Amino acid sequence: VKRWSKTRSVFRNGLFKNKVAIVTGGGTGIGKGITKELLFLGCNVMIASRNNNKLDTGAKEIKEWLRNTGHHATLETLPCNIRKEEEIQNLMSHTLEKFGQIDFVVNNGGGQFISRAEDIRLKGWNAVVETNLTGTFLMCREAYKHWMKDNGGAIVNIIVDMWKGFPIMSHSGAARAGVDNLTKSLALEWVHSGVRINSVAPGSSIYSDTAAANYGDVNIFEENKKTVPYHRLGTVEEISSLVCFLLSPGATFITGETVRADAGQSHYACPTLKIPPHSKIPPYSWQNGAVDPED
Ligand code: ADE
Repeated sequence: VKRWSKTRSVFRNGLFKNKVAIVTGGGTGIGKGITKELLFLGCNVMIASRNNNKLDTGAKEIKEWLRNTGHHATLETLPCNIRKEEEIQNLMSHTLEKFGQIDFVVNNGGGQFISRAEDIRLKGWNAVVETNLTGTFLMCREAYKHWMKDNGGAIVNIIVDMWKGFPIMSHSGAARAGVDNLTKSLALEWVHSGVRINSVAPGSSIYSDTAAANYGDVNIFEENKKTVPYHRLGTVEEISSLVCFLLSPGATFITGETVRADAGQSHYACPTLKIPPHSKIPPYSWQNGAVDPED
C-alpha cells in the first residue's frame, strides 16, 4: 500500500540540499535505496554502473518515485565500468561538468559469484578483486584528485559481512576485507584535506529484489534468517539510513570506521543461546510507508 504523503526519511528535509553524490551501482538493490534517500534529502546524484540497461531502468523508476514524493533533486546517469581507470576519470570529469562539485562518493558497485575456492579460475578471481577492491580504490583516488583534495568530502564504501571468512565467495571476502583496511589508510592520508571515509558492512540478510535475482535458485535469505537475532531480513532502507548518517554532519567525528548493519548476526556465534521467537525490532522502511518511523 503506497502512502506517499507519509513518505519521509528519518533525516530532516533538505539535509543534503545543494550537495552532489556519486553512487556506483546506484540503479539496483542497496545502491538504489541509497540513491533514493539522498535525492529525497535534496542531494543531486550521479549514478554510475557498468550495465546500461540496469542504469536506465533504475533511473526511470527512481525519477518517477521522486516525482511522487513531491521532493526535488537532480538525478544523472553515466555508464562506467569501475575496472577501467579511464572510465572512472571520465565519471569524475563528467560529474564536475554537470554539477560543479563532488561532495560524496558511495562505492556500492560490486559483485561476486558463488563458487568453492578450488573451482575459482584466475579470470574469475581477478574480476572480483578488480571490481570490489581495485575499483573502489580507483574511485576513491580519482574523487580525491579531481575534487576532494582541495575541497574535502565524504566517502562511504559498501562491503559485506565477511568477518568470519566468506566461504563459497572467498574472492569477494578477500576483496572486501581489503576495502575495510583501505578505508583506514585513506582516512589517515586524507584527513588533512577534510575528507572522511568510512565503510558500511551490511549483513547478508538485507533483502533486495536484485540480490534475490542474482542468487537465483539458491535461496540465501530463508537459510540466512535462522542466524539473524531479529529473526527477520533487513531492508535496503536500514542500510541507506546508515550511509546518509555517515555522509552527514552528524558523523563529523567518525572516519576510518567500518560500521556493521547486520542485526547482530556477525556476533551471533553461541549456539547454546537460543534466541526466542520475537519481532521486537520491526523493519524500518520509510519508502512505501510499510512501516512508518513515526507510527
Ligand atoms: N557493478 C558491478 N560491477 C561493476 C563494474 N565493473 N563497474 C561498475 N559497477 C559495477
